Amino acid sequence: MTQHTNWDNVYEDAIRWIREAGQEIMASFRTSFNIDTKSNPNDLVTDIDKQTEKFFIEKIKEAYPSHRIMGEEGFGDNIEQLNGVIWFLDPIDGTMNFVHQQTNFAISIGIYEEGVGKLAFIYDVTKDELYHCKKGSGVFLNDEKIKPLKTTNLSESLLAINATWVTENHRIDPRTFSPLLKKIRGTRSYGSAAIELAYVAAGRLDGYVSLRLAPWDFAAGKMLIEEGGGICTTVDNKEIDLLDKNTIFAGTELFHTEVQKEYIQPALDQNYYLRTPSSR
Ligand code: IPD
Ligand code: CA
Ligand code: CA
Repeated sequence: MTQHTNWDNVYEDAIRWIREAGQEIMASFRTSFNIDTKSNPNDLVTDIDKQTEKFFIEKIKEAYPSHRIMGEEGFGDNIEQLNGVIWFLDPIDGTMNFVHQQTNFAISIGIYEEGVGKLAFIYDVTKDELYHCKKGSGVFLNDEKIKPLKTTNLSESLLAINATWVTENHRIDPRTFSPLLKKIRGTRSYGSAAIELAYVAAGRLDGYVSLRLAPWDFAAGKMLIEEGGGICTTVDNKEIDLLDKNTIFAGTELFHTEVQKEYIQPALDQNYYLRTPSSR
């Protein structure tokens, strides 16, 4: 049985901790930090990623001992089921930007109960932009409520996509999205999935696609987008599994529906390849 949670208290605490962590991250620019690599030479992690994750885990465990945490750096719990309250935490999303640019990175936290999104936060630290929502209360950017998402024609749309997915790669046939890029107004690539998903929720982008994201990358963004009236699924239009890596395709309702119908489904019908992130 799940214990009763006072979500207003969790909302306030999370915002306070996020702003505090943001200040610590900003202060880290005045010191030097270690940079390591993880799965490959481009998969970076710094002391600051680890410190920030530990900071949140300490706060959460002290205030909400029954809550569990799935954190990218592995200091949280080993989560195999969606029961109870789970915090999906990416302490720094966009570590490569953090290291190379000192901007365009975010703290991303999605809080779910029994697999249902309750609260979501994406904090673009250097811009001091906090995207947040509580289920049923709308999406906010700092103190401003975000207006309902526009219904833009494909020809006037902006899509966030990494160039990898329209060049030779082993996850998606490049012919799936390349015709779409000719149709839409433009593409963007910010190097932080969380910021890109937050931009869809805020109406700054019409869509976002990635072939390789983990639960801590998309848990908050998915909830923000759905709360704002958009759609977030796998690329082949299936429900996202919060316990696994997924392909992600997010957009306003119109963008998502049209692109599925006009571009993705026809590509799948022609047997263009599409591989899940767990497959090699
Ligand atoms: C990465 C960023 C990036 C996305 C990668 C993620 P990280 O997260 O979100 O935009 O393309 O797939 O792993 O490693 O910087 O937290
Ligand atoms: Ca990430
Ligand atoms: Ca990260």
